[in-house]
Amino acid sequence: MTDAPTPLLVDLLTELRSAVGDTHVLTDPADLAAYDTDWRGAYSGRPLAVVRPGSTAEVAAVLAATHAAGVAVVPQGGNTGMSGGAVPDDSGSQVILSLGRMRAVREVDAVGGTITVESGCVLADVQAAAAGVDRLFPLTLGSQGSCTIGGNISTNAGGTAVLRYGMMRSQVLGLEVVLPDGRVWDGLRSLRKDNTGYDLKQLFIGAEGTLGVVTAAVLTIQPATPSRATAWVALRDVAAAAELLGVLRDHGGDRLTTWELVSRPARDLVVAAGLTDPLSTSSEWYGLVELAGPAGADVATPLEAALGEAVEAGLVLDAAIAGSPAQRSGLWALRERVSEAQEVHGPTVKHDVSVPITALADFVARTGPAIEAHLPGTRLFVYGHVGDGNLHYNLSRPEHLTSEEFLTHAAALSDVVNASVAELTGSISAEHGLGKSKAAAAAAYKSDVEVALMRAVKDAIDPAGLMNPGAVLPLPPVLLG
Ligand code: FAD
Ligand code: MLT
Ligand code: ZN
Repeated sequence: MTDAPTPLLVDLLTELRSAVGDTHVLTDPADLAAYDTDWRGAYSGRPLAVVRPGSTAEVAAVLAATHAAGVAVVPQGGNTGMSGGAVPDDSGSQVILSLGRMRAVREVDAVGGTITVESGCVLADVQAAAAGVDRLFPLTLGSQGSCTIGGNISTNAGGTAVLRYGMMRSQVLGLEVVLPDGRVWDGLRSLRKDNTGYDLKQLFIGAEGTLGVVTAAVLTIQPATPSRATAWVALRDVAAAAELLGVLRDHGGDRLTTWELVSRPARDLVVAAGLTDPLSTSSEWYGLVELAGPAGADVATPLEAALGEAVEAGLVLDAAIAGSPAQRSGLWALRERVSEAQEVHGPTVKHDVSVPITALADFVARTGPAIEAHLPGTRLFVYGHVGDGNLHYNLSRPEHLTSEEFLTHAAALSDVVNASVAELTGSISAEHGLGKSKAAAAAAYKSDVEVALMRAVKDAIDPAGLMNPGAVLPLPPVLLG
């Protein structure tokens, strides 16, 4: 049983229908189901409606209407986010603005090295458009078949090629953004150099929909790297993983693209799901490494030299180098399938932390025992982007607890992990963003000055607080009720 919308909201729905067309304003619960819950089923809400504009002008009309009505808006791309940022609260009064219809690739410029796309473009389609002119769009995520460029920009997504190309922020040259009151900021420039004042686009990158709606972007594209050398390695320990980064860099230089870590329990998950680990050597830690270069480049020799030196030094216990594209895909799957494999084991308390690379081993050494002391039997599934100092430090229930019982410990377990991160001057969100799930924790770890600056930015651009309330910054006490 849901409450009927108030007359004000009924008027708003009429206005939204005239802005985008009747068929693109969804209110039937059966239609809302595809939008009101995140992909893991971990966060859900009850929207007033889902609105699906087809152009920047329509996004502007939608935001002008919601702003006039004082109604909050939650932008949504592929809904693959990890922090509950793309779903509304359960008040029944927030509008989900889905960018799913705005998926045009407007221009690809191989000479200038740019691609201009609408924000609802799926990441894999942008990669394919770049490949179509023999170029590379380097952002690489396990979710690339579903996540959108607008979501990637708004979360400042990372992934498995950050080591070489940087995060999403590094790929963005220009943005078009609709502001909370419906005005359009046209910053869709392809300039490599532009020192004409504050770099406004940086505010919207990583803003998680709290400052406006990204409608289009100019992104950089890179030379294609069809030559790949890929290896799966068994490591001595986490300290060896960090040390190996130096060895890989010495031999691979800027061709080193990927250096990922997978703990034994995480590797066991994907093996149990049917994948094959080519190594018979048993270890507590494994890694995936890749060097990439242009056609004809010899990336195999530096990889073999680096691994030879690492075996000699006792950092690597065993290694398997892919001998074919099929073998390469098999090795990549051992890393990329961990995330989904974990979902079948019930609810996970997820953490996405970063610490200085040299502190990774210390983080692992101190956090595991602290978790065990707090809730004995909690299972750790650790994997991540070791080359970026970024671990996904995920917890699953002990055998003796039900999922519901385990989740009552979630906040306290996260406090344990976050305390370790703080002691090592790390971050509690390396690449997934804060969404609504981590906004309060992040504010607690930041200085008063930093939180005040963030609030000043929010208040300047969204003074009515209508864009994705509760994401990034916790709700002001008066709105918490
Ligand atoms: P959504 O989930 O729809 O939204 C995310 C946030 O951005 C929300 O706050 C939303 O309000 C806002 N938003 C979305 N579109 C817009 C817009 N146009 N304008 C303004 N705000 C907007 N992430 C990583 O960083 N690295 C990984 O390696 C990685 N791997 C993943 C693997 C799997 C299997 C899955 C399921 C997810 C993974 N993710 C990873 C998380 C996720 O895919 C990224 O955060 C991605 O950038 C989200 O894109 P989306 O389009 O799905 O955004
Ligand atoms: C990954 O690196 O696999 C992703 O960020 C997803 C996850 O954290 O599970
Ligand atoms: Zn990740």
